[in-house]
Amino acid sequence: MSERRIVTGLDIGTTKICAIIAEVSEQEILDIIGVGTSPCVGIRKGIVIDIDDTANSISSAVEKAERMSGIKIDSVFAGIAGSHISSLNSHGVVAITGEDKEISAEDVERVIEASQIVAIPPEKKILHVLPRKFTIDGCRDIKQPLGMSGVRLEVDTHIVTGSISSIENLVKSIHKAGIDVKDVVLEPLAAGQAVLSESEKELGVVLIDIGGGTTDIAIFKGGSILHTAVLPIGGDHITSDIAVGLRTPITSAEKIKIKHGSALAANVDQEEVINVLTTSGKETREVSRRVLCEIIEPRADEIFTLVKQEIANSTYDGLIPAGIVITGGASLMKGLPKLASEKLGLPVRRGIPEKVDSLADFIDDNIYMVGEQEANIAEDNTAVFATGVGLVCYGSQQDYQQNLNMQNRSELVNHLLGRVRSWFEDVF
Ligand SMILES: Nc1ncnc2c1ncn2[C@@H]1O[C@H](COP(=O)(O)OP(=O)(O)OP(=O)(O)O)[C@@H](O)[C@H]1O
Ligand SMILES: [Mg+2]
Repeated sequence: MSERRIVTGLDIGTTKICAIIAEVSEQEILDIIGVGTSPCVGIRKGIVIDIDDTANSISSAVEKAERMSGIKIDSVFAGIAGSHISSLNSHGVVAITGEDKEISAEDVERVIEASQIVAIPPEKKILHVLPRKFTIDGCRDIKQPLGMSGVRLEVDTHIVTGSISSIENLVKSIHKAGIDVKDVVLEPLAAGQAVLSESEKELGVVLIDIGGGTTDIAIFKGGSILHTAVLPIGGDHITSDIAVGLRTPITSAEKIKIKHGSALAANVDQEEVINVLTTSGKETREVSRRVLCEIIEPRADEIFTLVKQEIANSTYDGLIPAGIVITGGASLMKGLPKLASEKLGLPVRRGIPEKVDSLADFIDDNIYMVGEQEANIAEDNTAVFATGVGLVCYGSQQDYQQNLNMQNRSELVNHLLGRVRSWFEDVF
């Protein structure tokens, strides 16, 4: 019998670290067998600021997932974000030299390599070179050139770069936890695998992952990624605004945000009152819920203003008929899709890693929230797992492509997600 093939995704977020272990069958079917999360204090705005703290949190998340699955893992696909990430579109050209002029896997590799010859600052390194479309002898928009005939092969690629030190610190933290890193993957790229449909990616869609410290943006069109950006703002900024505005400790601000928050203040009844802990931590006072939401709304609005600017800068403005998909923990805020839609003038939906409802028990065990609280647990809270699930999909797809050079990627992703969904359904 062949060895079990295991893929692990490790989402190192600003607020929590999440490890997801999956088993890949001989038929390339993916089964999630363990999930573990742990609060994280060693990360700020997506970047490691304390290796020891981060390593401890990684160990604890991974141990939980290992206990659940009964498997000891030795390597992971790790997610990376942070404002050090930048991206550019590039182009490569090669001549097809084989006698039969048939494009081989080697030619495809060569042309993708040729597109990487771009000026990259010395403190940065390439994380991904993502082929978007190929051109053969002037014939454009070819998705899969393998086996086709031609003399001149061109490729348009999307190149993602990150700061060498940030990448190294992330890898060091994982090594310190005794785990190898198979690959470092841009988080919105992974999240896109988990929450976007193939037709959205084909038509044109913007994925916005609003986490604790960062808001990651990825624009997809024609089935591939065109633009990526990471903004250093997220749900934790809303929490600190509440703490300052209502003069309450951060832990209490976080609880209030999750339980009573809404991004649409005008829809909240002015008479409705909530109890807010004073900074002494001993007394509470009554505050109108509308006041709370009037603190939340401008910050949420600011996030979407920055997103709007980023979309405009990307030159893909007006080319995204499938609209916006929001995911990540902070996307769970009430009223956020409507606010985003008004602000961006596009349809907005919440993206979750497929339909994974009845997750309450699972969330109780795993989800990180500041302090012990009775959270406003929505059915779609699984948005916090979008990146983790996406990393597993990305990892198994990468393994699969390496092994079989599979032609139809979309089929595989759908296939994998089908399994992810059924796993959650089976367990709960
Ligand atoms: N129900 C909810 N309503 C509003 N905000 C929520 C809810 N649940 C979680 N959040 C917020 O989501 C944020 C955490 O999201 P997530 O787990 O996606 O972040 P992360 O991956 O750790 O961080 P990042 O991606 O920025 O590095 C926190 O600010 C948290 O307060
Ligand atoms: Mg995240």
